[in-house]
Amino acid sequence: MTELVDFIADLLTGAQVIALSLAVGGIVWGLLVLQPWRCRSDASAGVPPCLGLVLAGAFALGLAQTVELALRAWILAETLGRSPFPSLLHTPLFQAGLARAFGAGALGAAAVWLRRRPVSRRRWATGACLASVVLANGAWLVHAVGRLDGRGRLMAMTALHELGAVTWAGGIAQLVALWRFKRRRPELEALWSVALRRFSPVAVAAVALIIASGGGLAWSYVGTWRALVGTGYGALVVTKVVLLAAALGMAATNFRAVRREARAELQARVPQLVEAEAALLLVLLFAAAALSSQPPAIDTVTEAATWSEVVEVFTPRPPRMTSPTHDAVVATRRDPLAPPGQEPTLADAWSEFNHNVAGLFLIGMAVIALADWAHPNRRTRHWPLGLVVLAAFLLFRNDPESWPLGPVPLRESLVDADVLQHRLGALLAGTIGLVEWRARAPRSEGSRLPYLFPILALGGGILLLTHSHAAFQVKSEFLIQISHTAMGVLAVFVGCARWLELRLGTPAGRFAGLGGVTAMLLIGAILTFYRETQPSTAPPSVHQRPARAHARSERYSPVESGQHGLATYPDVRDAERGLASAQTLDVDARSQVFTSAAALALSTGDLARPSP
Ligand code: HEM
Repeated sequence: MTELVDFIADLLTGAQVIALSLAVGGIVWGLLVLQPWRCRSDASAGVPPCLGLVLAGAFALGLAQTVELALRAWILAETLGRSPFPSLLHTPLFQAGLARAFGAGALGAAAVWLRRRPVSRRRWATGACLASVVLANGAWLVHAVGRLDGRGRLMAMTALHELGAVTWAGGIAQLVALWRFKRRRPELEALWSVALRRFSPVAVAAVALIIASGGGLAWSYVGTWRALVGTGYGALVVTKVVLLAAALGMAATNFRAVRREARAELQARVPQLVEAEAALLLVLLFAAAALSSQPPAIDTVTEAATWSEVVEVFTPRPPRMTSPTHDAVVATRRDPLAPPGQEPTLADAWSEFNHNVAGLFLIGMAVIALADWAHPNRRTRHWPLGLVVLAAFLLFRNDPESWPLGPVPLRESLVDADVLQHRLGALLAGTIGLVEWRARAPRSEGSRLPYLFPILALGGGILLLTHSHAAFQVKSEFLIQISHTAMGVLAVFVGCARWLELRLGTPAGRFAGLGGVTAMLLIGAILTFYRETQPSTAPPSVHQRPARAHARSERYSPVESGQHGLATYPDVRDAERGLASAQTLDVDARSQVFTSAAALALSTGDLARPSP
């Protein structure tokens, strides 16, 4: 159950970054684009939708942060077997979280207050101050605050990075809202092109800030090329760079249209590209939140995979076409805490078979989809039904221990975060297939159904990108994870490409459609060549073994010793060190180290260092 709650809390972290962009980014939009105190007629019409988004973002931020704190406290209580209060109230993380929730409430109240008199410069200044406080408070919720070296510099750099991110993402959200609202409210018509023109230089500055500060943070937290390609943290940084490049491609087209003042393009092509850019930024913000809950690569270099090991993951090889029996797999299940071996187990063979068959299936579907793209006809348009068959296959095979094949009943199995994610994935694939099949039927013209496919594909991409990034990811786990991360990025591209295909029409839309099918083909290829155990993954070296054993024992044993009152003074010192490093590794108190160290410290009634 704690794993499931932990997973939900992780998703809430992503939701918070998005809400922060709406709330703080909305204020930046008001200050730099609308400037209502100048009493320009076009801009004042944009104030109500702008403040509406600020209010919604502030409310969502306060709520998500409060629920997340409650969930973290619940996880601690479950682990300790008693309430973590009042000690938890004194932890910096809890205090910063609480401050963020209150700050969000105050920002929401300021948005209501501003709405009553939007021309007041003083009220906007107050809104700006509150937004700055909420943004700056974020620096106490990230890795930077737990670093021993360059703490202040890293906190400032993260705050600047977040400023750039919320300015860009919040501004794009405002543009999408403006485009939608202007259909119903003609007074917003004039604002559209004015807002695009004024936002362009702001977005350029925001992107420059993101790249400069993001580069600095990546340099400090990653440090080497090997850590960049060979750790979960590094892989997410690369993911962010790839998504950023795609978003910038769209932004550049819009930027050129705005500079040329091409009226037709501003009305016909730019809004659709802005929508796709918004989708990419949404995924980017989720990826950013997932990055914050990973241990920085620089702290896990001993576990980093090499270039050649990563290349091997994506190297084509014959797919596994036979599977061990279900009974044999359940009977020989390995201890999950046992160190990973070099030889694939029966469970590995079972899982490889699932992935490889799913991959071949996807390749087949992509080929039919390609034929349908080239010459649409009655027979090939049914290709999405393949996803429904695939979902049924996954439902049966994904978790051999659970329903329907295994002994664990459905309800019980769902409290395991991994099983839940697999079930959600299968449900998503089946729904996507059915919806897209229905949407491609000749009679569905003019319906909104086709737009569900890209939205669900984006959801699937986010799920894959945030899928179980363990705090102590050993190399073999990372090598499995990296293919899921690559598929997550490709799923996002499938979603965006299909969206553009639907929205842009020919020929740009057709080109995007081809890109979407190609991305689907690549997902199929990754799955077809997927391996649970990489042949060249060496068993842990002598110096890695103690570190890994320490990581694993940290996760599971001190909780028990703490609960039984076995803590000694050196244990408490160790717990303190564990807490400090847990903050470094995972600021959201998500890692098991945090809970185990806190449990140990709480068992002696002293969470932090002695009072001066
Ligand atoms: C050059 C591309 C980028 C790089 C190298 C990069 C790198 C990073 C790094 C290293 C962190 C620190 C996370 C930590 O505390 O461990 C971070 C955080 C963050 N990044 Fe980026 N980033 C990039 C682009 C972006 C973009 C385009 C956005 C969104 C528009 C974004 C949004 C964020 C946010 C919101 C955080 C803070 C997450 C949190 O507080 O949970 N980044 N980024």
